[in-house]
Amino acid sequence: MTTGSPPGAWSHPAFADVAAEVARHAGLRIPAHRRPEVEQAARRAMRAAGLTDPRAYAERLRDGRLAVADLVTAVTVGETYFFRDPAQLALVRDRVVPALAASRPAGHALRAWSAACATGEEAYTLAFTLEQAGVGERSRVLGTDISRPALARARAGAYGEWSLRGPERATAARLLLREGERWMVPPRIRARVRFEYLNLADDTYPSPRTGTAGVDLVLCRNALMYLEREVVAAVARRLHAALAPGGWLLTGLADPPLGGLAPFEPISTAAGVVYHRPPHGAPAAQRDRPARRPVGPGTAARPAAAPPPPPPPPAPVLPAPAAPPPDTAGALDALRRGDWQAVVDRAGALLATPEGAATLVRAAANAGDPARAEALAARAVEAHPLAPELHLLHAAILAELGRVEVALEAVRRCLYLDPGLAVAHAQLAGLLARAGDAVGARRSWRNVRRICAALPPDAPLPLGDGRCAGPLSEVASAQLELLGGGDDRG
Ligand SMILES: C[S@@+](CC[C@H](N)C(=O)[O-])C[C@H]1O[C@@H](n2cnc3c(N)ncnc32)[C@H](O)[C@@H]1O
Repeated sequence: MTTGSPPGAWSHPAFADVAAEVARHAGLRIPAHRRPEVEQAARRAMRAAGLTDPRAYAERLRDGRLAVADLVTAVTVGETYFFRDPAQLALVRDRVVPALAASRPAGHALRAWSAACATGEEAYTLAFTLEQAGVGERSRVLGTDISRPALARARAGAYGEWSLRGPERATAARLLLREGERWMVPPRIRARVRFEYLNLADDTYPSPRTGTAGVDLVLCRNALMYLEREVVAAVARRLHAALAPGGWLLTGLADPPLGGLAPFEPISTAAGVVYHRPPHGAPAAQRDRPARRPVGPGTAARPAAAPPPPPPPPAPVLPAPAAPPPDTAGALDALRRGDWQAVVDRAGALLATPEGAATLVRAAANAGDPARAEALAARAVEAHPLAPELHLLHAAILAELGRVEVALEAVRRCLYLDPGLAVAHAQLAGLLARAGDAVGARRSWRNVRRICAALPPDAPLPLGDGRCAGPLSEVASAQLELLGGGDDRG
């Protein structure tokens, strides 16, 4: 973190030009709290290019002599893992694929695209899911991303334990092959998946040349949330055009809604809203009817002797289970009664916003069952990955459960999103001390003191539950004294 300048300030004005180039190139929003990461990444790239002057570096990015793309990963969080958001994957397996199978000609090879696939876990997960749906051998998956280093890792198909950290770890462990410390994607799955560079903000798709035209199913999850509003609208239009009629698009739970940005049919499901490109010529009334005939793998309902084939029938539309009603009071009430099933039934409404989710997680933590509170916090973080408060709450609950290493990850994620949170630095300091890292703990307490020193002593701290800058600064000083090691003035 840059010392001496307010959080989020550039240490040299040319870094603002660098950030503008990154934003322009990838269509990204760069909030002020992300500036330190952008600047750090830019400094690394400058060193690699043998440059010391940020102005010269910005100039080379502008005129194309140096590549902007790799800085993009510093701004977006490359967070991904196998079988992320299992509810959406179940929807793909149990509803979307059968609906597609029923609407495509017999023998049709299903084409799926994981757009913004990061290091590839999502693309391989999609291939596994298509196999579970019974169309494995008759399917191909394209994975694309703007980050070339991420794509190189995706192509290698070898992963560490961290890529299996989701709730479906057991499923991933069963399907991947263990080789020493690594988890390998089996050859039959790798053969169905290929990876290519694609910048979602560029007007280079749909295109048959890149395999991005006539696609049956697109997963574009947890990338749109980083993009500027007008870029999201352009991406929505291009993804709509990339889908074959009757195709489907799934976005992440934290992504902006696409309804109205392209002529999709948004369909509300228990796993969130999914977007359907209506088939040719299907009248709205017909499209809106739930499927009447049974659908499933291999149920391509086509008369065997009917040359030439008629146009595909309208895709059976997914039945839309009613979204949970907004029952905040009910969920909190159930929590007080300790009726966990009722809490979970009503949690959907609360989990829909970061504030509601934080209320629920806090209440669960106070109800004295940290294991359940942790499960809810994990769900909340999954639904709102950009909410620092939820990562902080998750860290506190994990710490209470004695899961110090995972708690450290959670609090670091919180600080990645908002490096100016004194209470998060304090939590990090405590966790590092517990993990035996006295040097790290001292560094974090110094950060607490530095941030608090910039505020009036009686200023309440963000996410501090009423704690004020002065008292927390005193705690930091006392801890620094206890930890010893000198140089605690920073
Ligand atoms: C949080 S990861 C999402 C990975 C995966 N889709 C998932 O949900 O697990 C976001 C990814 O979006 C990619 N990305 C950001 N801007 C992009 C753009 N303009 N075009 C393509 N990919 C982009 C980043 O490189 C990063 O790998």
